[in-house]
Amino acid sequence: MIYISRKEHFNAAHKLYNPNWSEDKNKEVFGPCANANWHGHNFDLITTVKGEIDPDTGFVVDLKKLSTLIRTQIVDKVDHKNLNMDVDFMKDKMASTEILAMEFWKILAPKITEISKYGELHSLKLYETPRNYVEYFGN
Ligand code: NI
Repeated sequence: MIYISRKEHFNAAHKLYNPNWSEDKNKEVFGPCANANWHGHNFDLITTVKGEIDPDTGFVVDLKKLSTLIRTQIVDKVDHKNLNMDVDFMKDKMASTEILAMEFWKILAPKITEISKYGELHSLKLYETPRNYVEYFGN
C-alpha cells in the first residue's frame, strides 16, 4: 500500500453565520468570520489517494488525471466564488472548512475510483490558512 498526494489551490469568500441566531450571538461565536460583507481565504486542498501499484504504469493513480479531476470537479466550482452564495453543493450549509472538506469528499471519492483501478481516496487536507486546516478520512 502506498499513498500519493496532489495539492491544488483556490481562493474563495465566505462568512460564518447561523441564521437561527441573533446578530450578537453570531458575532460572539464567529467573530470577524461573521462579517456581513464576506471575507476571503487562500485555500490549499491536498488530496491523498492510497492503493496498490498498477504493474503496467508503476502508478497508484495517474497524477495528470487526478489533477484534472480535482480542477474540474472542485476548483472550477469554488475558485473566486462566494462559498455561501455561488456553490451549489454548499447551499444551505455552514461554510466552514470542515463542511467544505466533507462535501469535497462526496464528490471526489467515487470519481477517483473511476480514474484509478488500484487506488481510492484516503484523505483530504484542506488548509483555510497556513495555520488552520482540517483533515477528513471519509467518516
Ligand atoms: Ni473565514
